[in-house]
Amino acid sequence: MNQTEFIPESYTRSLETGKETWSSPSNIALVKYWGKKPNQIPENPSISFTLDYCRTTTSVAYELKEDTNNFSFELYLDGVLKPEFYEKITTFLERIEPYMPFLKQYHFKIETSNSFPHSSGIASSASGMSALAVCFMAMEKRLNPEMDEVFFTKKTSFLSRLGSGSACRSLEGDLVVWGAHADIEGSSDLYGVKFDGEVHDNFKNYQDTILLVDKGEKQVSSTVGHGLMHGHPFAERRFEQAHENISKLKSIFKSGDLKAFMALVESEALTLHAMMMTSMPYFILMKPNTLEIINKIWAYRNRTDIPVCFTLDAGANVHMLYPENHKLEVLDFVKTELVSHCQNGHFINDQVGFGAKKQ
Ligand code: DP6
Repeated sequence: MNQTEFIPESYTRSLETGKETWSSPSNIALVKYWGKKPNQIPENPSISFTLDYCRTTTSVAYELKEDTNNFSFELYLDGVLKPEFYEKITTFLERIEPYMPFLKQYHFKIETSNSFPHSSGIASSASGMSALAVCFMAMEKRLNPEMDEVFFTKKTSFLSRLGSGSACRSLEGDLVVWGAHADIEGSSDLYGVKFDGEVHDNFKNYQDTILLVDKGEKQVSSTVGHGLMHGHPFAERRFEQAHENISKLKSIFKSGDLKAFMALVESEALTLHAMMMTSMPYFILMKPNTLEIINKIWAYRNRTDIPVCFTLDAGANVHMLYPENHKLEVLDFVKTELVSHCQNGHFINDQVGFGAKKQ
C-alpha cells in the first residue's frame, strides 16, 4: 500500500481562475462494503455495477485568494446555498489536502445538482463525492498537464474514497472492484479498479430498477453503520465471505450463469441486513413493503423464469436487477405489481453505465 504516489512533487503550471464541470454516477454493490478501518480502509473488498442515470453534476469555480491559511468555499444545491453541508465538505477537504496542496490557495464556488430527486432517499454520497473529487482532479490536471488518464482516474478514485468509501467505485464502469483481493490483479484498498475479467454478454447493459419504498432520511448513517462491525460477533467470517463471493462472481461473470448470479447477489443483500440485525445496537432497515417486493420478485421469477433478482443498500429501497432483454416484461411487472408498494408510486429506471463524464 502506498499513498505517497498521490502526493504531487510540484506543479508545472499556475492557475488564477477557472471552472470545472463534471457528472459522476451512483453505483450499486453486488458484494457489499460493510465495515471499515481508520482512513477509509475497507474491512473487505467489494464490487459494484456503475449506474448511468442516477448521477450528480458538479461544477467548481475557483479563484486564487490572498489568505492561504484556511479553506474557503460556498456550496449550492440546485441553486440554493447549503451551509448544512459545510462540515462534511470541510472534513473532505482536510482529508484530501495532503494530496492536493493547492486547495487553501483558492476560493471555490461549488454548484451541484442530482439527476434524481433529493427526496428520493437514494444515497447520493457516492455520486456527490466522486463528482466533487473529479472537479478538483481536473483542476490539478491543469496545474500538471502531463498527467496521464490512468493516473487521473486512479487518483480521483483515491480522493473519492476519502469522501465516501463507495464513491471510489463510481469513476469508471461497468464493474469496479475496491479492496485488495487475491484474484483481482491490481486491486487495492486505496482506490477502485475496473474489473478486467471476462464478462458474459448476459451481464452487458444490466438493468437496475430502483423501487423507492422509503424516501425519508437514512435511519442509520453510514459512519454509524460501518462502526457496528467493530466487535460484531460475525464480523471476521463475514469479511472472509466477501472475499469468497468475489472469487465466485468472477467465474459467474465468465460463464454467464444467471441463477448463480442471482443467488449470490440476494444472499449478499440479506447478509448486509443480517449484519445490522445482529449488531449491538441492532437495526431493521427493511420495511413491510421491502419484504412485499422481495416476495413478489420471487413469485414472479418462479412463475415466469425471468431472471430478476434484488439487492439492497443500507435502507428499505429495493434495487431490482435484470438483463436488458427482459426490460419490457419486467417494467410491466413493476407497473402492475410493485408500484403499489413504492412510496407515492415512485421508482427509477437505471442501468449499468461507465462512470464520470466531463460536461
Ligand atoms: C451498504 O460508502 O456510504 O451501500 O465510507 O462511510 O461513506 P462511507 O460509507 P458508504 O457505505 C456504503 C455501504 C453500502 C454497501 C456498498 O455500497 O458497498
